[in-house]
Amino acid sequence: MSKLRTQVGIIGGGPAGLTLAHLLHLQGIESIVLERHSREYVETRVRAGVLEQGTVDILCGSGVGERLKREGLEHQGVELRFDGRGHRIDFQELVGKSITVYAQQEVVKDLILARLGYKAPTYFEAGATRIEDYDANPKIHFRWSDEDHEIACDFIAGCDGFHGICRPAVPSEQLQIHERHYPFAWLGILAQVAPASHELIYTYHQRGFSLLSMRSPEISRLYLQCAPDEDIEKWSDERIWDELRTRMAKREGFVLKDGPIMQKGLTPMRSFVASPMQFGKLFLLGDAAHIVPPTGAKGLNLAVADVRVLTRGLVEFYKRGNREALEQYTERCLRRVWKCERFSSWMTSMLHRFPQEDSFSHHIHVAELDYVTSSRAASTALAENYVGLPFDTPELF
Ligand code: FAD
Ligand code: DHB
Repeated sequence: MSKLRTQVGIIGGGPAGLTLAHLLHLQGIESIVLERHSREYVETRVRAGVLEQGTVDILCGSGVGERLKREGLEHQGVELRFDGRGHRIDFQELVGKSITVYAQQEVVKDLILARLGYKAPTYFEAGATRIEDYDANPKIHFRWSDEDHEIACDFIAGCDGFHGICRPAVPSEQLQIHERHYPFAWLGILAQVAPASHELIYTYHQRGFSLLSMRSPEISRLYLQCAPDEDIEKWSDERIWDELRTRMAKREGFVLKDGPIMQKGLTPMRSFVASPMQFGKLFLLGDAAHIVPPTGAKGLNLAVADVRVLTRGLVEFYKRGNREALEQYTERCLRRVWKCERFSSWMTSMLHRFPQEDSFSHHIHVAELDYVTSSRAASTALAENYVGLPFDTPELF
């Protein structure tokens, strides 16, 4: 067994863990990153795609935005489609900001490349098995290369996602859980075909929600609302394209060309907040602490927002011996988290069909969408939340 020592032990090499490690490195704070999957696995896992301006600013400002600037697709609006008609929400005109479509696994690749470039310790296929004494002398136990290892550190950053080990290590009586399950899921595909629109389209239809997104001028990413226990084997490629065409149809016509489906997956829908997000010297970040349903495209962005708050706290602590910002970690994060939870659950309810909805509910969905797309005040509120609410702490860079 080897015994290692670092300032911040980071469990999880997803967006939260890798961004934190990178920002800390730039501030001269050491960390070790443990990731239970292989590098190849995390670099090819298809997940989020929409980056808020604030997330883009952090990545570019910290020197990992070269490819993002080159390959990211900047979007100045989205379309909401219902009743066979499309309505554009113009972010630039309403709030003067945009979003960038750039896949999560590309962000992860860029961060890994930077970290390996400056040779900071990063272990893949290294699952943390247990954390210990996080109130006083934190230790992380992990398994790597068929052997047990231990890291002693000043702080543990639990960036290990929803199914990690950090949150369950906290006694349940110290945790408040606020949770909502939705009676549907998303069937997502990645297809080798040019996107049918140059901006995202969120569609409400009586048969359920659908979403058109993209990864590049040649690759489309599409989602369909389905049952939470849907058997994906029952969805042939042809059935998926037919269903997408039905839901996205417009009165004036809409052409959705199909192409080879490269990847298919199911995403469950959940709202979840654990509070507090800190316990002694253990901090939870990103999906380890909170989950939003994907409709608002907020999950990855919220993870990066937590990183921003913790980085500031750790810099204050190491450079000035000041613990105040660390003590305020939960409070600062949760203010943003709850606003994103609100927005994501509102978008989800407005755009999806719930079981047993009657004609009255259908008209309420349509009336709400009609209001949101025709009132400047309501469109502005949607745009302001979608592009990312302003941060209430000063810039990191
Ligand atoms: P994760 O990405 O889950 O990373 C946690 C890491 O910890 C994983 O790599 C895991 O392997 C590792 N780990 C777990 N346990 C251990 C252990 N014991 N030891 C070592 N390592 C461990 N968000 C958006 O902002 N915009 C979107 O458009 C968007 N769309 C989405 C679409 C889909 C289909 C899905 C599924 C999610 C989407 N999200 C979106 C959400 C986003 O992907 C997540 O919120 C984001 O991945 C959270 O990052 P994280 O680093 O906190 O957690
Ligand atoms: C994507 C995912 C989302 O959850 C969303 O709201 C918009 C786009 C995407 O994967 O491209």
